[in-house]
Amino acid sequence: MVDTFQPRLLPPDFEEDESLAADRPAVDGERPPRGQREGGGQGKYAGKHPRNKLNELTGDEWIFFTKSVITTAYASDYGHRLRKAHGANKPPQLMKSLIEFFTDARGRVLDPFAGVGGTLIGAAIAAPPRDCVGIEINARWVAIYRKVVAQSAGALVEYPLHQGDSQVLLADRALFPDESFDFVCTDPPYNVHLTQTMANDPRYVNGHTNRRTDYNMRSEDTADLANLESYEAYLDAMQRMLGHCYRLLKPQKYLAIILRDAYQQGRYVFTHVDVARRAESVGFVTKGVKVWYQAGTRLRPYGYPFAYIPNIAHQHIVILQKPRPVGSRQ
Ligand SMILES: C[S@@+](CC[C@H](N)C(=O)[O-])C[C@H]1O[C@@H](n2cnc3c(N)ncnc32)[C@H](O)[C@@H]1O
Repeated sequence: MVDTFQPRLLPPDFEEDESLAADRPAVDGERPPRGQREGGGQGKYAGKHPRNKLNELTGDEWIFFTKSVITTAYASDYGHRLRKAHGANKPPQLMKSLIEFFTDARGRVLDPFAGVGGTLIGAAIAAPPRDCVGIEINARWVAIYRKVVAQSAGALVEYPLHQGDSQVLLADRALFPDESFDFVCTDPPYNVHLTQTMANDPRYVNGHTNRRTDYNMRSEDTADLANLESYEAYLDAMQRMLGHCYRLLKPQKYLAIILRDAYQQGRYVFTHVDVARRAESVGFVTKGVKVWYQAGTRLRPYGYPFAYIPNIAHQHIVILQKPRPVGSRQ
């Protein structure tokens, strides 16, 4: 029988970068510019609805956003050359689309795991720009964010990016008062740092460039969620962080969290479901999930030729809402 397995072999200098789709042309699913959608922007959903208090979008844009799958490839931009040092940097355009749906023009956004600033830059390029605050534990990523803003020569507003442990900083009620944010938009570590098996193992890497990875975004800080001792400890820390975010959000406002499932010790781990359950335990209501398909994901021959092991080429953007207080009117 003919072996049809054809991993996409990538050049040796290929860098693992979650925003890699950025280097490809836009693909199916891209949001057309304002006013150029169905009916040429003239139809029933062309303008902003007078009762829409959530955001500034037209009906067309609102409905388009509710699609549960994102296949858009975003252009490399906004200092990507510097930001790509962080293996899990996110396209600011993706964060902008979340921010533009979940906030109106006066909305205030928080990212407690800001990295090199995908969310902060997304807030700066939103129409109109939204106010934003970030926290990042690793000084290296904070410095890169500041450099990207400085190099933008005024094109990007610089938002406060506090360097420190979000678990500690979010508990500071003077710095982060109750109900002071309209949206939490975040992309935390997806798990504790996994022991690398095939990737980078010298037994496999030689002659198999698609098993080598430069993917290391963890700091040495023991408070870095990726350094926790177990998956349970990770979920506990996520629950505490979600509890802080619940206090910080205004009622009826949303939290979007980007999570990646894992394959660990012979088993698929539904990280996005486990975290959503923890969010529900602190009061959030799960509203949905958007699957972000990452067209640039490198395929590795995991399991080949013996067993099925997935190449996980998508992430989940879990949407949670803080309900309004019981007995209150809308
Ligand atoms: C998936 S990355 C976020 C990348 C970001 N979206 C971007 O565009 O650069 C998660 C980040 O959380 C940070 N982190 C981990 N534990 C933290 C903690 N306890 N407090 C604050 N940041 C933390 C990591 O250093 C890492 O940069």
